[in-house]
Formats: sequence, structure tokens, C-alpha cells
Amino acid sequence: MNQGRAPVRFQNVSRSFGSVVALDDFCLNIDAGEFITLLGPSGSGKTTALNILAGFDRATSGEVYIGERAVGALPPEKRNVGMVFQSFALFPHMSVFENVAFPLRMRRVPGPEIRQRVERTLEMVQLAGYGPRRPAALSGGQRQRVALARAVVAEPPVLLMDESLSALDLKLREELQEEIRRLHREFGTTVVFVTHDQGEALTLSDRIALMDAGTICQLDTPGALYDKPASRFVADFIGRTNIVPMDDGSHVSAVGLDAAPDKVVALSLRPEKLTRSPGPSDVRFDATVQDVAFRGATTELRLCLASGLLLRMSEPRSGALPLPARGETISAGFARQDATSLYE
Ligand SMILES: Nc1ncnc2c1ncn2[C@@H]1O[C@H](COP(=O)(O)OP(=O)(O)OP(=O)(O)O)[C@@H](O)[C@H]1O
Ligand SMILES: [Mg+2]
Repeated sequence: MNQGRAPVRFQNVSRSFGSVVALDDFCLNIDAGEFITLLGPSGSGKTTALNILAGFDRATSGEVYIGERAVGALPPEKRNVGMVFQSFALFPHMSVFENVAFPLRMRRVPGPEIRQRVERTLEMVQLAGYGPRRPAALSGGQRQRVALARAVVAEPPVLLMDESLSALDLKLREELQEEIRRLHREFGTTVVFVTHDQGEALTLSDRIALMDAGTICQLDTPGALYDKPASRFVADFIGRTNIVPMDDGSHVSAVGLDAAPDKVVALSLRPEKLTRSPGPSDVRFDATVQDVAFRGATTELRLCLASGLLLRMSEPRSGALPLPARGETISAGFARQDATSLYE
């Protein structure tokens, strides 16, 4: 099954629509077999990048390579790329079987082999036996699985998925995430996945390209993006965090730190790094509890510091100290190394 994988390269790709610059000198090297996610807010250029890679749109300038081959001038069907679209479209008049068989028929695969491969792929997405149904007789999640099966049935060396799971409820989304990870492992395909859901990106990806306004602002492993965000934008976008701005230094001293070096514009403090039982070498501060919120496995405390800075603190519910009352003053702290310096 593990027939092909291909590296992908965006080389200085720009795309403008009139005065809107959707992609701005976009550069990205994706290794063969890598699972990479384009993550970013709405309008940051994710779909544009995928469409240019798949051949549904053309770059204004720059080039895209699949393997060693420049593909900018090739039509989509010559690129050997599987794609699940943002607004995924099954052929409504065709059965599930025929929908999945479509890419194989386009490639003139012989009938008996088509049957075998379609059935195997439907099994893989847990839709064995659904072949004769029409898409209208499926749930949204099942349709999405059919779209996924259709994208992978021809075992393309590159698989593109645009917000393929966003419309689903959490449980189904998590199931399909598992499925996609398994497919990626089994096929060894290079995957370019697009989402604006950072949790999904963190779970699935080998690396994440965090995009803003048509460019990549940080390209890193999920762990590195989370622990070492390069900018305020990244810290805020990946996970939840507290931003402590430098300003006149009052907020920094309110959390118990000395002024940071010159170029640092803010500090990032993750809510789960704050604790009500700081160790002897931890940085300490006092705060007033503004609110206490139940969040399932964790409790979130909203704290107000002397400088007026608000901090969110998240603590596990098991083994926690008794909860403080609203308005109570508490002492809290964090390890010095957990305050991440942000330079822009
Ligand atoms: N066909 C088009 N004509 C004009 N502008 C376009 C076109 N396609 C995209 N754009 C613009 O290009 C920018 C990037 O759009 P794109 O669809 O790539 O964003 P995205 O990151 O996929 O966003 P979302 O998360 O909302 O799907 C946006 O400002 C969008 O309005
Ligand atoms: Mg999009």
C-alpha cells in the first residue's frame, strides 16, 4: 500500500485577488511522508495555498513543486493529489461506491480491482456495506468519511485536506482524527492539512505552519510552537495563555518579575503553569480572585493583580486545595523559566 510519498515545495508563491494579497511570498518545504498543518485565522491564505498546490488556482508569481517536478502549469488531474475540500462535494446522483470509485475510473483502473480497492477503503473509514447508498441517505459525518475515502482510494502521494472535520461534533471529530492519523501511518502519504482549530493541529501534525496575512509567522513542531512561541500572535493563537505586556513595567513587577531585557515586548504565562502552591524558588505574587469556573477536569481561576492585570489560572481538580471564594486574596506563583519572552 505504501507506494508513494512525495515532498512538496512552495517557492516564493504569491497570489493576489485585485488589491487583496492572499499569499505573500509564501515559502514552505514539506518532507515526503510528513503531516503538516496550515493553521491560521480566517482569511490568512490557507485555502489559497492548498488550491494552488492542487491546481484549482494559479499563483500570481512563484512556483510549486511536487517531488522534483514544477507543477504550476499542470491541470489538477495530472498532479496526483487527493483532496478533501472545505465545502466537500460528493456527487449526489452517484452511490457511495461510485463516488469512491471515481478517481480510479478516471485512471482507467480495471473493474475487479476497483471493486476490491473501493471496498477496502470503505472498510478503512468504517463504512463497509454503505456502498449502494446515496449521499443524501448519510449523516454529515458519514459523508465526510466518503469524501475522505474518495481522496485516499487512489493512494495519492500527496493528500490535501481543507477544514475536513470542522463541521463535525467533537466526538466524531476526534474519531476521524484517529482515522486520519491511522491512514497517514498506513499509506505513508504526505499530508497537508488545513484547519483553524489549534487543538486539531496540535494533535495531528508533525509540524505546523502558523499563518497570518498570507505568510508563515512560525513553522515548528506542535511542542515547540506551544512552548517557544516567537511572537504574541503565536502565543495567543496556540493554546490559551496570559500575555503580560511590558508597558511601563508595572504588570511585570506585579507578577513578581524584574524588568525583562530591552527587546522583549511581553511575556507569555500559560494558565496551567500558575499554581497556588509555589515552590521555594518560584516567582510569587498576590492576587484577588475574581471568578472561579468549573471546566471539567480543571478549575479556572480568574485573578486580578495589583497593577490591574488579569490572569487566568488553570488547576487540575483532583488533589487541588480547597477553592477560594470570590474576592479572596490568594498567593500564587510560577517557575521563572515558564515565563516565555515574546519579541514582537
Ligand atoms: N476568488 C477570490 N476572489 C477574491 N478574493 C479571494 C478569493 N479567494 C480568496 N480571496 C481572499 O484571499 C484571502 C485568503 O483567503 P483564503 O480562502 O485562502 O483564507 P483561509 O485562510 O482559507 O480562510 P478560512 O479559514 O476562512 O477558510 C481572503 O482575504 C479572501 O477574501
Ligand atoms: Mg479556507
